[in-house]
Amino acid sequence: MARLSVLVFGIVGLWTQVCCLENDKYDEYSLIRIYPTNGTQVETTNRFQDPEHLIEVLKGSRGINDSLDLLVAPHRINYARQFALNNDLRFELKQKEYGRAFETVERVPRRRVLRSFSIYDYNSYTAIQDYLETVARRHPELVTLQLLGNSYQGRRVKLVKISANPNTGNPIVFIDAGIHAREWVAPAMALYLIYRLTNDPEAKQNELNGVDWYILPVVNPDGYEFTRSSKANRLWRKTRSKSNGNCFGVDGNRNYGFKWAVSGVSNNPCDRETYAGPKPFSEPETQMVRNVMLENAKRLKLYISVHSYGQYLVYPWGYTGDFVPKEWKKMDSLARSVSDAVQRAGGKPFRVMSAGKWYPAAGGSDDFAFGAVGVPYSYTMELTEGYEFLFPERLLKTVLPQFYEGFRVFGAQIKKEFKNSRSPRDSESVSSIED
Ligand code: ARG
Ligand code: ZN
Repeated sequence: MARLSVLVFGIVGLWTQVCCLENDKYDEYSLIRIYPTNGTQVETTNRFQDPEHLIEVLKGSRGINDSLDLLVAPHRINYARQFALNNDLRFELKQKEYGRAFETVERVPRRRVLRSFSIYDYNSYTAIQDYLETVARRHPELVTLQLLGNSYQGRRVKLVKISANPNTGNPIVFIDAGIHAREWVAPAMALYLIYRLTNDPEAKQNELNGVDWYILPVVNPDGYEFTRSSKANRLWRKTRSKSNGNCFGVDGNRNYGFKWAVSGVSNNPCDRETYAGPKPFSEPETQMVRNVMLENAKRLKLYISVHSYGQYLVYPWGYTGDFVPKEWKKMDSLARSVSDAVQRAGGKPFRVMSAGKWYPAAGGSDDFAFGAVGVPYSYTMELTEGYEFLFPERLLKTVLPQFYEGFRVFGAQIKKEFKNSRSPRDSESVSSIED
């Protein structure tokens, strides 16, 4: 009987999804790509403005053959076309009725009830949390979970600490993912890393020998679940906090307290996707990451924030494209080795540069880690190319192992450069950080 009602409700749920409800705002929008035709135009491309707010920028361009990706309402297509024409940019109408192709995500958790967890699926936040508990239970000698706090809506956020020798004061690689809700491949990558580091016998000999890995798979669980709740919400990016108006959410990657809001942000909680928040660290989600970074500041040697999409591997500064930190060369060459390793594994290479040279945007976690915490290697990693934010689940099996090879190169460098360079139990925090 119980099984029958599951079946019946499952079918009804499926039908309402497919049939009538949940029209997506993007159903009628078109995906448009605009390309610079010479090097000096990159800035023009990224200065694209839409006064009516009916065009959404999905991705910036960093040069020739790299597109500015826009989602455009039907009656604004001409505006975008005109912008391209006026600035001598190449214009490409890539896909009409873009939103219609979205998967009806609500169906996914229902189907999953009947199946067990897979590392190659896009999992619900609950399933992810259960997986973390399972990993910790199975590998108590390697894994501890640290509760960092609660999200705005009260979801528990746990850090996964993987260490073969927790008391030796190893250098730490800190990786977070999922600060942007719609970038589902990022939490999937973080989980895959946890899976490999704890299951692969080779990892114990290599990746975990002399380096500790701290991994936070979903920084913004409220937003993540929101994008899973319906087709209409699939492209949500921000947190889900409520501001004084009637608008929701802050861009977590504009909310960090280093050079906060000096570039590339919106000051309006109701428009666009890049609202920096009412003040730095207004969001519990960014506070949690800040706190754990500061707690471990001395041992933190590498920080990677995993995002999608575009296949970029970028380093500070993100807030400006006018200059790079004096240590840029080291970050640049490590990024290139990582890219090479991914390519050798059959993946696509990364575009490597400073984040601000791609497009300036302040208040990012990468700049905070590098500039305020003093982490010597700091990156934002944008995974995948060719599917925008809707990277197909069936391809996770192919790409996650390829990217893993890049993470191994990261780990090897940290081991080589920092293994046992600090005294044990060194975990004082840095003071006088902007709050
Ligand atoms: N796509 C990322 C974002 O817009 C890139 C961040 C790069 N870092 C930066 N500090 N701008 O959040
Ligand atoms: Zn992102």
